[in-house]
Amino acid sequence: MFTTTNVLNAECHPQPRLSALLACGDNFMPSTWHMPVSKTPFRYAVAIRDENKTYDLVHQLKEFSLNFMDFSYVKSMEISGSMHGGKKFQATGLTPKKATHIQSTLIEEAFMIYECKLIEVANFGDHDLFIADVLCIHNKKIENVSPTLFLGRGYYETTSKNPKRIERV
Ligand SMILES: Cc1cc2nc3c(=O)[nH]c(=O)nc-3n(C[C@H](O)[C@H](O)[C@H](O)COP(=O)(O)O)c2cc1C
Repeated sequence: MFTTTNVLNAECHPQPRLSALLACGDNFMPSTWHMPVSKTPFRYAVAIRDENKTYDLVHQLKEFSLNFMDFSYVKSMEISGSMHGGKKFQATGLTPKKATHIQSTLIEEAFMIYECKLIEVANFGDHDLFIADVLCIHNKKIENVSPTLFLGRGYYETTSKNPKRIERV
């Protein structure tokens, strides 16, 4: 039996969603509204709400990095998502890393990082959609990554590490 609504409430998000740390300048914030939009060239989109400091920074600097974090860093996700700007590296204990193609910071502890250069912005409401070329991908190729999945309202999860391969017919 369905319950039917025309308003987006907490139960109406398709979750869990893969969460990453989106950095611009020397600031960063958790991001779950992100997705690839082209394979060749490789392009990626992130949606950022106008109240966030990162929103202004990406408009200004026209670049960002997306840092995919292991579940062991989940506390950093919550801490950086509860601050607007400020000393987030200090607050989370994470380490800044110099990028190779952009000026914005990367996060050393990430297992994979995209360095992104903005190519287009579109507004559809309280978030802007920032579309970027992925100029460079850093990958630690760690076999046993536990991805950070966000369930909303402070809840996080990771995968079971028991993937099932479904044979194609
Ligand atoms: C797990 C998680 C995922 C989030 N995803 C997004 C997102 O995709 N877009 C967004 O605008 N805000 C998102 N937020 C909220 C921002 O990360 C939060 O408002 C943060 O404090 C903004 O930091 P800033 O003001 O320094 O940019 C998310 C928060 C959490 C905890």
